[in-house]
Amino acid sequence: MKPKVVVSGREDGRRSERADERMSEGFSAEAAREGLGAYLQYLGFLISRMPPPTELARLEAPYYDYLQAPLQPLADNLESSTYETFEQDPVKYKQYQAAVRQALIERHPANGPVPVVMVLGAGRGPLVDAALYAAVEAGRTIRVFALDKNANAVVTLQNRRLNEPTWAAHVTVVTADMRSWAPPELADMIVSELLGSWGDNELSPECLDGAMRYLKPSGISIPSGYVSTVAPLSSSKLWNEVGRLREVKHFETPYVVKVHNAFQMAPAQRCFTFEHPAPEQRLTPPAEPDNTRARALTFDVSVGGRLHGFVGYFHCTLYKDVAISTDPATESIGMFSWFPLYLPLRQPVHVPDGGTVTVQFWRHVSPQKVWYEWALLHPEMSPIHNPNGRSYHIGLL
Ligand SMILES: C[S@@+](CC[C@H](N)C(=O)[O-])C[C@H]1O[C@@H](n2cnc3c(N)ncnc32)[C@H](O)[C@@H]1O
Repeated sequence: MKPKVVVSGREDGRRSERADERMSEGFSAEAAREGLGAYLQYLGFLISRMPPPTELARLEAPYYDYLQAPLQPLADNLESSTYETFEQDPVKYKQYQAAVRQALIERHPANGPVPVVMVLGAGRGPLVDAALYAAVEAGRTIRVFALDKNANAVVTLQNRRLNEPTWAAHVTVVTADMRSWAPPELADMIVSELLGSWGDNELSPECLDGAMRYLKPSGISIPSGYVSTVAPLSSSKLWNEVGRLREVKHFETPYVVKVHNAFQMAPAQRCFTFEHPAPEQRLTPPAEPDNTRARALTFDVSVGGRLHGFVGYFHCTLYKDVAISTDPATESIGMFSWFPLYLPLRQPVHVPDGGTVTVQFWRHVSPQKVWYEWALLHPEMSPIHNPNGRSYHIGLL
């Protein structure tokens, strides 16, 4: 990180013998003069004491402020190299393992029936491994179904079943879309990871709603729920990056981005919450879940500036207090599978010190697609961004 530092104040016009040296270090001519020299010297001292970047920061540096369009999770299949990158995450799979272990210990006595665990969206199998390790740690035996719609990933799953004795003994591999699969039996536990940068933005709710019908009445989903969170963001860098794309539709598109040159103007607040099974699915008889959402949020901004949009995160409860999170307030430190989401504003807006920002978000669902709309309500009204999903949507077909 190379923060810009502004030193302001009176300067006496004389050049110090260190001024040229300071200027060559990137300080301005004015600042390098004698009057501000002590401040510059002290800044130089602080900079020299900064710790070197961590391994994670080095890996992430090429992605700083680089806009990526979010995935179309149902239309596109992931590449093997993408799975491989996910699988390096040092936190995510450990948390899943801890969640499955705790659920097995608390819900399945060692001398009871063998629990059936279904890993839905298994990819190349790391969550299957996490479940199998958890069973060993819990002293339980489990049977696992590993399902994915991606035929390429399923080839890897089948190979693992052929080559790994634990898999051969405990795992059944299935190629199917979880929304339409007809399972041969019901599950005690459904384990999945279908989260996008803003939690529900890769259709986890729609996919898991379809799968809840093959959970036993006593069964659980890991995750049990998630909430998207959002905060106002000042970042001329990100706004200009969107502007370079030269079409309004890009200001109505959320981007996955490692937000770097930016100032989050207030703590993130909860936006859309989802539970699995959905509350409607716990009714007798169960009803179709409604995954549309609308939420207005007001943020207190103590240090004002130009508002260029919003930054989105998620907090996901796997089981009881075992969670994964990208929200700065509860962040899973070291987890790198997700960058935040940037939701731009078409026009930046000035927010004064001590001001407030009010914004409205909507999540819409049709039989074909899911999309978000958003509008600033205060300190100025903006148009509704992305009406009817005209610029960006996530396909359900
Ligand atoms: C984010 S990846 C997770 C892969 C793996 N479980 C992991 O944690 O590394 C999501 C996986 O779910 C699969 N998937 C997404 N929607 C699906 C659906 N409706 N039915 C079956 N698989 C699905 C994708 O093909 C992908 O392999």
